[in-house]
Amino acid sequence: MNRIHYGGDYNPEQWSPEVWAEDMKLMTEAGVSLVSVGIFSWATVEPTPGAYDFGWFDQVMDNLAANGIGASLATMTASPPPWLSVKHPEILPERADGTRLWPGSRQHYCPSSPIYREYAGRLVEQVAQRYADHPALTIWHIGNEYGCHTRQCFCDVSAEDFRRWLRDRYGDITTLNEAWSTTFWSQRYSDWSEVFPPRTTPTFGNPAQKLDFARFSDDAILQCYLVERDIIRKHTPRVPVTTNFIGLVHKPIDSFKWAAEQDIVSLDSYPDPYDPHAHVEAAFGYDLVRSAKGGRPWLLMEQAPSAVNWRPRNAPKAPGVMRLWSWQAVAQGADGVLFFQWRQAQGGAEKFHSAMVPHGGPDTRTHREIQALGRELAAAAELSDSLVRAEVAILHDWDNWRAVEGDAHPGVTELLPAHRAHFDPLFDAHVTVDVVHPATDLSAYKMIVVPNLYLLSRDVAAALTRYVADGGTLVVSFFTGIVDEQERVYLGGYPGPLREVLGLRIDEFWPLPVGNSIGVDGGKGTIWSEWIETEGAETIATFTDGELAGRPAITRHQYGEGVAWYLGTRPDPALMRTLLDRVRTEAGVEPVLPGLPDGVQAVVRHGGEADYLFLLNHSGSAVTIPLPSPAVDLLGSSGSPVTSVDLAARGVAVLRH
Ligand code: GAL
Repeated sequence: MNRIHYGGDYNPEQWSPEVWAEDMKLMTEAGVSLVSVGIFSWATVEPTPGAYDFGWFDQVMDNLAANGIGASLATMTASPPPWLSVKHPEILPERADGTRLWPGSRQHYCPSSPIYREYAGRLVEQVAQRYADHPALTIWHIGNEYGCHTRQCFCDVSAEDFRRWLRDRYGDITTLNEAWSTTFWSQRYSDWSEVFPPRTTPTFGNPAQKLDFARFSDDAILQCYLVERDIIRKHTPRVPVTTNFIGLVHKPIDSFKWAAEQDIVSLDSYPDPYDPHAHVEAAFGYDLVRSAKGGRPWLLMEQAPSAVNWRPRNAPKAPGVMRLWSWQAVAQGADGVLFFQWRQAQGGAEKFHSAMVPHGGPDTRTHREIQALGRELAAAAELSDSLVRAEVAILHDWDNWRAVEGDAHPGVTELLPAHRAHFDPLFDAHVTVDVVHPATDLSAYKMIVVPNLYLLSRDVAAALTRYVADGGTLVVSFFTGIVDEQERVYLGGYPGPLREVLGLRIDEFWPLPVGNSIGVDGGKGTIWSEWIETEGAETIATFTDGELAGRPAITRHQYGEGVAWYLGTRPDPALMRTLLDRVRTEAGVEPVLPGLPDGVQAVVRHGGEADYLFLLNHSGSAVTIPLPSPAVDLLGSSGSPVTSVDLAARGVAVLRH
């Protein structure tokens, strides 16, 4: 990219050409280099079927080019025009209970609808042909936040597509019956026509059917993306394509699978300014999106300049927060910082969502901060293409996420809180983390953390076992390795395929009553406890009260050249921190800098010629940080090397070493 891009969603169709002229002037002054255009333009460029009106859009593209601003050009298919659902009401999606979703907002299409895909494809063909050689075209922005509102569709068209998907996966109905354990509750199918999406049922539905429907729905949405992407590729094989993932992680859309189909990944991120840990939540999402593309730079495609409009109470970003959080994304590997949206809408459902140019115009606090940040980022071009490296990986798998949060389990195990329980203490200890799919090559990591990987394939279990045997450090939390890819339990004692590496067997699950904790040596356990029989593992901590008092709670197993830890409960945050500090110290994992104050985030991006240390003060107080060696602060005024950095509250420094 050769620069850190700056900009936002630009919706000129909502404004007159006089406003466009002011937009160009203000964008230029703010150092805007990339804007997402056309996302919601379908009804304006194709006001009636097949009658295209691109004249106004040509003007917009020409204006951008004339001002040296790139277009992240949308395929315009995110919200079908009203005429399409009048002409073809069968494109409208249906919920599990049969409710049809009507036009009047956006994303009101059934992802499996061949009619929607056909009309969308025709439009994309027009857009791609028309702008293939336009000088403003910088990157293709396919659709918009796929799966944001319409995540699964249960209509008859989807049902037929689901059967096709199942036939591809299982071949014949007998194999499907086995995969779905349909002898249970008399669910055996004798013909494909008897198979439906998991529509609303009297009680718990078949878990394997639900999991497959989640996989299918993701694939159906991905298919919409691929249809458009392939049309685009035909016309512009060298222009990169992306689509923006919904922040920070979104259960219906498997970012790992989707990332493989994109040239550059991008993410929309809306941490809540009222949440004191919002930056940690964001950090997890940024580490994941970067890891999804093997560590390559990514784009922050949307964030709010200040408040959003979709929470019950929408906090503005206090002075300095927008800058701090923007630099956080860059620190964690982003090569672009973009916003929703450029100009705050006068009408429509998002009129109270903040913008780079607020209702009050350019003479506003938000716009002044936008201008200042644009100047800073423009001067930091050398950061682009530099890479973040991590020694620790947390394993995340969408299949597992969908399965582990299923119905009728021993207890409720929500995956994102489980991730955060492991991620946050590492973040607080200033350790850089990747968040990767379990089937990734893990050999280069010094430490692997596995929170609640309930669904685990035999292959991944074997790879984790080898990883430890070869000298790796593995930390596994409870309710991991319980079922295979079809939600069938591994028999003979939990966690079947990990028993050998962990050196234990779990006899029974003892989930804790809501809000309760249990005593554990050194602190408390939360959420869960279990009856562990060690088979070679050493007990590090035992439960200290209740029925399991005196039994193992946390174990450590030397296996081959490595070590495998097991947590039979979720330690309270202080105990988790102590434990993970010990595990990582033994594994040789160091913080980015020793002795950093609480609330300061530190990340290094490695460039070809220099390393860049980012220091971000998320705390409310000023701090002084001594540096290991003299370095130039890219955001400082002096230009000469410094040996320590004074960071105001919400301050940022980027140090070139
Ligand atoms: C995103 C979406 C944008 C806008 C924004 C508001 O989900 O892509 O179009 O709606 O949220 O926060």
